[in-house]
Amino acid sequence: MHQLLARKSADRLLAEAQAPDRQLKRVLGKWDLTALGIGALIGAGIFASTGSAIAGGADHVGAGPAIIISFLITATACGFAAMCYAEFAAMVPISGSAYTYAYASLGELAAWIIGWDLIIEYAVGNIAVAISWAGHFRELLGHFGIILPAWLTIDYRTAYQAADAVAAGATDPATTYLASAVSGAPYIFGVPLIVNIPAVAIVALLTVVLVYGIRESAAANSFMVLVKVAIVLFFIALGAFFIKPENYTVHGGFAPNGFKGITSAAAIIFFAYIGFDAVSTAAEETKNPAKDMPFGIIMSLLITTVLYILVAVVMTGMAPWRQLDTAEPMLTALQQSGSTAGILEFGQFVIALGAVFAMASVLLVFQLGQPRIFFSMARDGLLPQWAAKVHPRFRTPHVTTILTGVFVAVFAAFANIDEVVQLTNIGTLFAFAVVAAGVLILHYREPNRPRPFRTPWMPFTPIMAIAACIFLMMQLPLVTWIRFVAWLGLGLVIYAGYGYWHSVQRRRAAGSPPSA
Ligand code: ALA
Repeated sequence: MHQLLARKSADRLLAEAQAPDRQLKRVLGKWDLTALGIGALIGAGIFASTGSAIAGGADHVGAGPAIIISFLITATACGFAAMCYAEFAAMVPISGSAYTYAYASLGELAAWIIGWDLIIEYAVGNIAVAISWAGHFRELLGHFGIILPAWLTIDYRTAYQAADAVAAGATDPATTYLASAVSGAPYIFGVPLIVNIPAVAIVALLTVVLVYGIRESAAANSFMVLVKVAIVLFFIALGAFFIKPENYTVHGGFAPNGFKGITSAAAIIFFAYIGFDAVSTAAEETKNPAKDMPFGIIMSLLITTVLYILVAVVMTGMAPWRQLDTAEPMLTALQQSGSTAGILEFGQFVIALGAVFAMASVLLVFQLGQPRIFFSMARDGLLPQWAAKVHPRFRTPHVTTILTGVFVAVFAAFANIDEVVQLTNIGTLFAFAVVAAGVLILHYREPNRPRPFRTPWMPFTPIMAIAACIFLMMQLPLVTWIRFVAWLGLGLVIYAGYGYWHSVQRRRAAGSPPSA
């Protein structure tokens, strides 16, 4: 037991990252990191999930215009967590992020659990984003008059749900199109082939960029971030003209479902805040991590929070909140606001374009982060050593980058997006809570360790981060908890079968050479 709880010192973690064949390229500065953070942050959360957070859904009530408060609550919770991430990322600038911080503060077993848990945040989350991206891409193509056959752009469940709806009498063009996947698909041994090709293609394309180089990946991300931020600003500026103040008050009041509505929405829109932590996976590619990591993490969260709150103010001012119950709430807000047909058509195009760029950059940054976490885990012996290889020319962790690409692409080709978002939320909240606990523990265990960035208001900040994360986790449905626990259980079985026996740390403690 005491071996499982044995911590790996920050000094050892840093020393092991120095092996010449394990070094990544240090090229990123503080604004590159800020762009990476914004890249990971603004995506499906604000472009899609906000609708059900405002208007409510099958298993939760909506916040109404008080979504503005929900955004503030979640931003505060994330702010506390971001301080903790910033302290760790500056002190132990290793690409494993929360996994590495848990190793340094809580020991190997906790580190493995977090490493395994982060797969939910990064890779599983990205499956959802890739599917969502494909939906918006299909819409964007539609603006150019290009209609792809439905069986090449959606998943089985969506196709069959639409086919059932059509059989039950639905006639709207969107449902008819989706249903055509079942009738139009080629059949192999009696089974229709329905596969989301755009989702696969975007993951494949980003994987190529990520293998090619960190500099190129960061540049591609920065470009996409500029486009999406410009489009969000455009929406805010345009929407401001259509605000009707009575929308904040008359349809049941500012907070029609009270505190319950506000907190349920806060847990849903947490998805929109996932990403500032992914900045920390680029620690080994940062020129001056001690300074730039805290800057990138905190600045990206700050900029994004301001944008989110402005979007929320504008959106709920443009339309009665109940009408925002769609997967494209910005567009719905515009439709309900009484804008002219010309503005509407232009807005529709611009919002679709924004969503496509936004989600592509989210995908890029998480496809960048996941391999680096695997890379760190392999370097520590918890995953096979071949996964810790660095490409001799590009100096990227190409093996884990390609593996992550294949994993995400295969699931995105066939999976359905429902419920993945909540699983991602619970997994990420858990990681945030553990990182905050780690900061707290090291604060007392190693008070004199040099800390280039110190979490302010100790121990208040990490305690608040933990409390806020647990509170938000409690808002999520039981089924999400069951899936989450099952996932962690599977992880423990894998650890018992592999990591336990190959851990560099434990082999060293036992006096055996590291395994190949
Ligand atoms: N924050 C990211 C998004 O909203 C995950 O898409």
